[in-house]
Amino acid sequence: METDNNVETASELFKAQAHIYKHAFGYANSMALKCAIQLGVPYIIHNHKKPITLPELVSALKLPSSKLIAFHRLMRLLVHSQFFATNELGYVLTTSSRLLLKSGIPNLSPCIRVMVDPLVITPWQLLGEWFHSNNEKATAFETAHGVSMWEFCAQNPRFDRIFNEGMASESQMMRLAVKDCREVFEGLKSLVDVGGGTGIIAKTILEAFPHLKCTVLDLPHVIANMPQSENLSYVGGDMFQSIPTADAILFKHVMHDWSDEDCVKMLKRSREAIKDRDNGRKGKVLIIDMVLDRNEEELEMTEVKLIFDVMMMVLLTGRERTEKEWEKLFLEAGFMRYKITPVFGIRSLIEVFP
Ligand SMILES: C[S@@+](CC[C@H](N)C(=O)[O-])C[C@H]1O[C@@H](n2cnc3c(N)ncnc32)[C@H](O)[C@@H]1O
Repeated sequence: METDNNVETASELFKAQAHIYKHAFGYANSMALKCAIQLGVPYIIHNHKKPITLPELVSALKLPSSKLIAFHRLMRLLVHSQFFATNELGYVLTTSSRLLLKSGIPNLSPCIRVMVDPLVITPWQLLGEWFHSNNEKATAFETAHGVSMWEFCAQNPRFDRIFNEGMASESQMMRLAVKDCREVFEGLKSLVDVGGGTGIIAKTILEAFPHLKCTVLDLPHVIANMPQSENLSYVGGDMFQSIPTADAILFKHVMHDWSDEDCVKMLKRSREAIKDRDNGRKGKVLIIDMVLDRNEEELEMTEVKLIFDVMMMVLLTGRERTEKEWEKLFLEAGFMRYKITPVFGIRSLIEVFP
C-alpha cells in the first residue's frame, strides 16, 4: 500500500495501528494500576501468603460475586503488564507489586496516588492549548488551576497532604542505596536538605550516618508542626532567599522542578552556604536527580526519564537535564567540578564541588 512516499505493507500498518492504540490508551494502564491499589489487591495477595485463586481474591477484597468476571479481566491486563503473575495455583506478586504494599518500605502507592490524581491529569488535557499561549511563565498546571503548583499546594490542604505523602513514599526508595554511599558522606558533619519536604530522606541519611546534624529547609506550611529531634531540625523559608550553612547542601528531586535560571540561583545560594566551613574545609552540593542520555541505559529507563521531563514542563517550570546541561549550570554558579554516580535507578547522585 502506498502512503505519501513510503511503501508500507498492510501488516506494518496494522502494527502501527496497535502502536498508536497502545499509546492513546496509555491511561488505561495507569487507571488499572490505580484501581488495583485502591482495592488493596497487592496487600490481599501478600497477606494470603500463598498463591491466591480468583474466587479467593474476589472474596477477600469483599467484591460482589457478580464482579468476578470483570475483576478477572482487570487482573488479566495487570498480569500482562507484569504487576502480578500467575502460576498453576493462582495469582502471586511481582517485584513491581511488592513495591506497592501498604506494609512495605518502600511503598510507592502514595506516590502513584498523587501521580494519577485528577488535579495532576487535568493540565495534560490542556497541553495543546498551552503550546499556543504566549504567556511564557504560566505552566499548563497554571492554565488549568489558575495558580502555580506550589501556590496550589499552599491553598489546598488535601492536595498538599497527598503530594507530601507521595514525595515521602518516593524517598523511601533511597533506603535501598544510601548506606552504600559511605564515601559521599565521609568527613561531613552537617547537611541541609533543601526542599526536603517532611524529612524522609534526611531521616534515611541519619539512619545510615547518625553522626550528622541534618536540617530540612522547606516552605513554612510544609514543615509546620514537624517534630524536631537532636540531630534533625526543620526550618521554614525560601531557598531562593537563603540556605542555612552546612558541610553539604542536598537537593533531592528539587532542581528538576525549576528552570535553569532558578537552578543557578539555588546553586549560588548553596555556594554561599558551604563556603569557608570551619578548619578551612570546603563543603559540597549533593543533587539527586535524573541525567538524560546516559548511553548504557535500558529503553524503559529512557522512556520514564522523557516522561518525567515533559511532566516537569506540564506541572512546573522545570526539566530533566543531560550531563552537558547540568555542567553548564554548575559552571555558571561558580562551581569547579562534579561527579555523577548513577546509584538510585532512574536517578543519579551528583556531587558538585566549589
Ligand atoms: C518535588 S518536592 C521534593 C521533596 C523531597 N526533596 C523529596 O524528594 O521527597 C519539592 C519540594 O520543594 C519544596 N519547595 C518549593 N519551593 C520552595 C522554596 N521556594 N523554598 C524551599 N522549598 C521549596 C516543596 O514544598 C517540596 O517539598
